[in-house]
Amino acid sequence: MVNILHHHPKGEVVDAPALEQFQKDWALYRTLVENDALFHRAVADHLHDALATAFDRPFSLVDLACGDAFVVRGALEGTRVAHYHGVDLSMPALELASRTLEGAPFEVVLDHADFVEAVTARDTHADAFWFGLSLHHLDTDGKRALMTAIRRAIAPDGVFLVYEPTMRAGEDRTAYLARFDATNRPLWRAILSEEQWRAIDAHVHACDLPETAEGWMRLGREAGFSHTCEIYAAPTDLYRMFRFDP
Ligand SMILES: C[S@@+](CC[C@H](N)C(=O)[O-])C[C@H]1O[C@@H](n2cnc3c(N)ncnc32)[C@H](O)[C@@H]1O
Repeated sequence: MVNILHHHPKGEVVDAPALEQFQKDWALYRTLVENDALFHRAVADHLHDALATAFDRPFSLVDLACGDAFVVRGALEGTRVAHYHGVDLSMPALELASRTLEGAPFEVVLDHADFVEAVTARDTHADAFWFGLSLHHLDTDGKRALMTAIRRAIAPDGVFLVYEPTMRAGEDRTAYLARFDATNRPLWRAILSEEQWRAIDAHVHACDLPETAEGWMRLGREAGFSHTCEIYAAPTDLYRMFRFDP
């Protein structure tokens, strides 16, 4: 098994309530992923293509909020990744990640740490940073601060990618959450019990802080990235993927 490093958070974890659901019941999130309810198959393809075209040399990847690394493991196949650094605060997820990445043909470090502290504490550049469905737990100022820290920690020819909840232009959080309920409740009825839906829905209503597409790209520019673009929109139009170049 891959070793897990433990870095106990020095300060308060800013998104502690958001984290709780993933410490309590990882299997529930995994049900959504395995049924592709969050469109991770397409996301993995886009992540693969972005990394494979950006690097024709060995590269390092930092996976912030890596979870069980299930999605990224497939995305990295056929790329020239040499060093993988996964960061998460859920031990059940990291234990699964250590099994997912067992025998991987690249160096693996798994870090039981707060992603904000892990990025701000970095003293070496990484080539690529990836954030899947987790940066939205921070408020807009928190997102900007963390993206600025990533900009400082990324190699000059690096790439930063995120896949995050995204509001339509002109939509506010209340309207986004109503659209989340109207769209996902019928779709997820086939895979979740009523109790499971209520747990996920309560988590999303309490913790998710989406931005508009323009908002995500503006945050990238404010963080110091010179080029920002959208590369994928989920069929439900609830989640989008963005790329930021230094
Ligand atoms: C929705 S899951 C995303 C997992 C994976 N990135 C994916 O796309 O499938 C959110 C993850 O963020 C982690 N997380 C939430 N807050 C965190 C924090 N402050 N530091 C590290 N991990 C955190 C949770 O433990 C969980 O694994």
